[in-house]
Amino acid sequence: MFIAANWKMNLNKKKIQEFITDLENFEFDDGVKACIFPSFIFIDYLYSLISDKSISLGSQNCHFEKNGAFTGDISPYSLKECGCEYVILGHSERRAQYNEDNNFIKKCAYSAIDAGLKPIICVGESIEIRNSGNAINFIKSQLDECLPENCKDIYIAYEPMWSIGTGIIPSINQIEEIHSIIKIQAIKKNIGTTKVLYGGSVKPDNAEKIMSIDNVDGTLIGGASLNVKDFLAIYCSAVKQIKVIS
Ligand code: PGA
Repeated sequence: MFIAANWKMNLNKKKIQEFITDLENFEFDDGVKACIFPSFIFIDYLYSLISDKSISLGSQNCHFEKNGAFTGDISPYSLKECGCEYVILGHSERRAQYNEDNNFIKKCAYSAIDAGLKPIICVGESIEIRNSGNAINFIKSQLDECLPENCKDIYIAYEPMWSIGTGIIPSINQIEEIHSIIKIQAIKKNIGTTKVLYGGSVKPDNAEKIMSIDNVDGTLIGGASLNVKDFLAIYCSAVKQIKVIS
């Protein structure tokens, strides 16, 4: 299981330090990886605080070029150098606010893999697409266009746009259906191992239910990951789930 904390553009140095201090006596389980995705500017700082490496570090985005004239962008190689292991690509906020399209996301995924990072590629439909009955076709075409091919190890996050920050989550059947389609599409692209995370209004009170669904390999958490208590409650739901399975 994989628990990803997408902090987005939140938390300052003091709050980050408090967050990590509050985690000090917590025993992470070997079967559940926790990864934090802070703002670019605090990646180095967070890395210095988590020197025991019980938590992994990731970036919320990257560029596809190794270096060059790309003002304001970040190379996946720089992220790797600063201790990142993962990078989120194609989050719906990036797609909507910065016009990142599937082609761009695919190029970033190849480049991230080359740099030694594991990409977490986000897909998800709008409420209009869901209501028109086209969610499955939409997700399939997103995957078709943005997934890299013939790679070893990839993460895909299903994040319905209508669920992000709204408190509304899809039904168990809807999550199960999309996650199994994602796994099939990844096999078609000859991807070795694919872990599928669910993201969108994951909270302590729904995490256990979500993580008991077939083909849910973890969660990508936004709002609830800003608070240590909620983050750990969700993490513990994942630990409980792996104990049920084994
Ligand atoms: P949320 O965000 O948990 O606040 O809904 C999830 C995300 O955007 O990754």
